[in-house]
Amino acid sequence: MATVEQNPLTEGLERLPVHPTTLVIFGGTGDLAKRKLLPAIYNLAHEGALPERFNLIAVSRSDIPHGDYQAMAREVIQEFSRRPPDPKVLDRLLENVRYVPGTFDDDSMYERLKECLEKFDEDGGLVFNRAFYLSTAPQFFSVIVGKLGEHGLNESPESEVRVVIEKPIGTNLAEARELNQAVLSVLREDQVFRIDHYLGKETVQNTMALRFANGLFEPIWNRNYIDYVQITAAEDLGVGTRAGYYDTSGALRDLVQNHMLQLLALLCMEPPVTFSADDVRDEKVKVLHAIHPPTVEEVPDMTVRSQYAQGMSGGQGVPGYLDEADVPKGSRTETFAALRLEVDNWRWAGVPIYLRTGKRLARKITEIAVTLKPVPHLAFEQQGSVGVQPNQLIMTMQPNEGVAISIGAKIPGTRMRIRPVNMEFLYGTAFLSQSPEAYERLILDAMRGDATLFTRVDEVEAQWRIIDPILQGWAQDDSPLPQYPAGSSGPEEANGILREGHRWRTI
Ligand code: BG6
Repeated sequence: MATVEQNPLTEGLERLPVHPTTLVIFGGTGDLAKRKLLPAIYNLAHEGALPERFNLIAVSRSDIPHGDYQAMAREVIQEFSRRPPDPKVLDRLLENVRYVPGTFDDDSMYERLKECLEKFDEDGGLVFNRAFYLSTAPQFFSVIVGKLGEHGLNESPESEVRVVIEKPIGTNLAEARELNQAVLSVLREDQVFRIDHYLGKETVQNTMALRFANGLFEPIWNRNYIDYVQITAAEDLGVGTRAGYYDTSGALRDLVQNHMLQLLALLCMEPPVTFSADDVRDEKVKVLHAIHPPTVEEVPDMTVRSQYAQGMSGGQGVPGYLDEADVPKGSRTETFAALRLEVDNWRWAGVPIYLRTGKRLARKITEIAVTLKPVPHLAFEQQGSVGVQPNQLIMTMQPNEGVAISIGAKIPGTRMRIRPVNMEFLYGTAFLSQSPEAYERLILDAMRGDATLFTRVDEVEAQWRIIDPILQGWAQDDSPLPQYPAGSSGPEEANGILREGHRWRTI
């Protein structure tokens, strides 16, 4: 058997050339920086995928010296890195880490930041590219970008300046537009990298590979053969310590507006002419534009929202959403949302696309299931056939990454009896390697200036155009919110949006 070293399929992130870069993380002591960004940067260093010369500056409010920040970074990398850190790689990475304390509206902080950036250039004898990563609460996005502009940090004559913005981009279409305008009054669109971390997941990108690198699927990828599509992003965890943010967001804004609509767009888009950032994003935007946003009147028929009540998770009793820390009394924020959408174009007209997401469901699973139409005539029926089901193609984004096709097969024996069986491809077995974390790929791409896996301004706005009327419809409806027990598959009411003969897959 081939060893891991010999297997050409085990390659991780390639060592693509990246110009020397100084990465600045605003919100450097925040949860995202600790759990995701710093470990991702370490893993890039470990793979030799960071630029040869790389510096990191963290900006945050706490007034601590560089040394304390470096110690904190070491600790969180040791805790959250997907591979055990190599002390030599970690020491080398931390050598070039600096910390700039200050609030995001404080002009003197930007001056100190500028000095720190220039010092790296001076010591390095070259002008580093600059990447500013806004890992802060959303209210600071436009403040920070504005200040970068005022302090001349939005451009550099001799190097590239890029800004990475986390979600959420606004909480509705009007706010998203306002923020986009504020950002684009200081930066060019090609300097802006709006993160949707689902696009950094290998399995999400594999949707494109599956569709466009195989002759098998594309001929049937349309309304003539596909009966319906189901996209599920279920989580077993509850709101945890994030109620402050989550209660103002809810499942629709938190996951549907961004991650789930991206999955839908990748699944439904036309083949792009090339895989360049704009060709791919042009096709995704066309799909989003082809989705008929429900009118406020259609909202009850096309959507369901719900909140988790107390129940069981991992064998333990867990509280309902309203009893979680920091959730306001009587909150009507949904922790589950399900939608029936349609893409009104020649390829997809009439095919329901169901989306469903929720916290505290039975398990963590993100998948796309494409169900084909039933065969036109079932000749086996008279002979006692059992369990003939329409074919399903299931793309599992997480946790058991892979693709499965359910096909009808003959049960061994004298009778012509049929049952569904699975043909399966699993990443873990096929590639013998652990997929890089989404943030590793995205940080690297942002530093390289490749925006293919980031959302463009018109894409974000097209997403909000679908979500806005649902939010309005829900705001006008004060009937009691359906509940589902923690640890279940969600509320019964979710069945109400399904067309006849369609079923949710078990979570
Ligand atoms: C984030 C949401 O964007 O995605 C979280 O804000 C959610 O609420 C998370 O838990 C899910 O991401 P993943 O990668 O764990 O599926």
